[in-house]
Formats: sequence, C-alpha cells, structure tokens
Amino acid sequence: MKIRKVTKAVFPVAGLGTRFLPATKSIPKEIMTLVDRPLIQYAIDEARAAGIKEFIFVTSRGKSALEDYFDQSPELETALRRAGKDQLLESLRETNMDSGAIAYVRQNRPLGLGHAVWCAKRLIGNEPFAVLLPDDVIAAEKPCLQQMVEAYERTGGNMVAAMEVPAEKTASYGVLDVAEDLGSIVQVKGMVEKPKAGEAPSNLAVIGRYILSPRVLSNLNKLKSGTGGEIQLTDAIAEEAKEPGRVFGFRFRGHRYDCGSKAGFLQATVAFGLARPDLHDEFAAYLTELMAMQKAAQ
Ligand code: G1P
Repeated sequence: MKIRKVTKAVFPVAGLGTRFLPATKSIPKEIMTLVDRPLIQYAIDEARAAGIKEFIFVTSRGKSALEDYFDQSPELETALRRAGKDQLLESLRETNMDSGAIAYVRQNRPLGLGHAVWCAKRLIGNEPFAVLLPDDVIAAEKPCLQQMVEAYERTGGNMVAAMEVPAEKTASYGVLDVAEDLGSIVQVKGMVEKPKAGEAPSNLAVIGRYILSPRVLSNLNKLKSGTGGEIQLTDAIAEEAKEPGRVFGFRFRGHRYDCGSKAGFLQATVAFGLARPDLHDEFAAYLTELMAMQKAAQ
C-alpha cells in the first residue's frame, strides 16, 4: 500500500470564543497566550515538526489579528535589529510564514467543525490532510502530530488522537466505538459525537488532532446537521469507520490541556510557565508560597 505524505493541515479558527468573553470581544481566542506565545503558535509548531508545509486557516469575521500575527513586521524587526535584541528577533522569525505556505478561507456561518473543515476542501484537493484544533494544546516529548504521522505511515486510512476520559465526561467529546484494541493504536468501527454519560460506546475520546483521507470531505458533502444542530466532523469520519481498517484511534504520549475551558487554560499556563527555564525558579517559589498561604488560611 502506497501511503501519501501528509503535507497540508487545516486549523479551524472560526469559533467565536464566547467562553473567554469579554477578552474575545476584540482578540481571537487563538491569539490568547500561554506565557508569551499565542495558542495558535503551539499548533503551528506541532504541525511543522510533523512535516506540514501548507497551513490552511478556516477563519471568520473578526479574526484579522491572526493574519497579522503570521505576517512579517518590518518596522518591529528593524527596531529590534538596531537595538541588538537578537533573541527577540529570533522569536519573531518563528511567527513568519512564507506567503505561499499559508492560506485563509472564511467560514461565513457557524455551522460546526465538519463544515469548517469542508470549507477548506478546494485547498486540500485529493490528498490526505491533518486537522489541528488549537484549543487542545498537547505537551509531549515528541509532538503529538508527529507521533501520529509515524503511526499513520504504517496504517494509512484515517487517524484520530485519542485519550481515556472519565465516563461522566463523554458528553464533551467525540467517542470511539472500538473494534480492536491493539495498545497505542485501536481499530475503530464507529464514532459518536458527545454521547451522554452512560450511552457512550467506550471512554476513549477524540482529541483535536486528525489525519484524514479526502474521502472524509466527500462524506461532509452529503452530511446533514448532527449533534447540537451542527455539521460534525465526527459523523463524516464515522461514515468511513463502517468499513474495517479505515479508521484508527491513536493513544498519544503526552499531556493534553483543554485550553477551550478557563480551568484548562489556567492549568496550561501554570505548567508551561514552570517548564520555562527562564521563569521556573521564580514561579515555582511563588507557587510554593501561595500554597503555604492557602493552607495556613484554612
Ligand atoms: C471537538 C470535536 C470533538 C472532539 C473535541 C476535542 O469538539 O467535535 O469530537 O472530541 O473537539 O477537543 P468541541 O470541543 O469543539 O466542542
């Protein structure tokens, strides 16, 4: 079986980010920072590490800050160069994307994740592609999508990142119906979007990293709205899962932060702050002091 390389990735960034209002009234959620890097930068870095060369953003009104973020900023760069601030200059370089490598399409109505991915259809064409949801930030020694690409090179088909969640949490996720559990890889025979606790086929949940075949786009063409009245990506992948050996779940090695929720965002902020060598000592000392103060106050 000849497996085509995955070189394109879709980043659905059209959401309103209402959970982070009022901040998201004027800032796209994806520009909110973990320490000093916007959420979207983590997803881009992960995609780059996995060999992605073309980056497709599905945006909406009010997201132009994202386009500016990935553009060159000649005045700022000149000022930093003149001031000899090489390290800062270097950090800016990571944000620059080659003009040909980046594309934006608009989702003009909020019809769901499946519809957002479908909007990128013409840019994807007839090849496998990755989807990364920037809300899911994954800290891992080897970036999650890279782990998946390596696994996908053995399996082909479609692959979704998966993680065990408590049974009472299934209503927040797409959930896998497992045909065969092979350890880090599971064969999938079905998928359900946000099943109620007690009605889920397993407790293996989909996390926002996907490698998909272009057939999923054709399935999206035919889809009617599903859970929550939205066109669900899960349903289009589930369609593929009806045939054995076409959909795989991948238990990644790493820690996933749900930066779509305030608690998850705060957890990620603390973890990423502690992981930074330049901040670790001061921040760890502060946290220890804070915990001691809280304990004393109890
Ligand atoms: C989306 C998907 C869901 C998946 C989740 C992972 O849901 O629809 O299947 O489990 O991302 O974060 P959302 O969180 O956007 O509602």
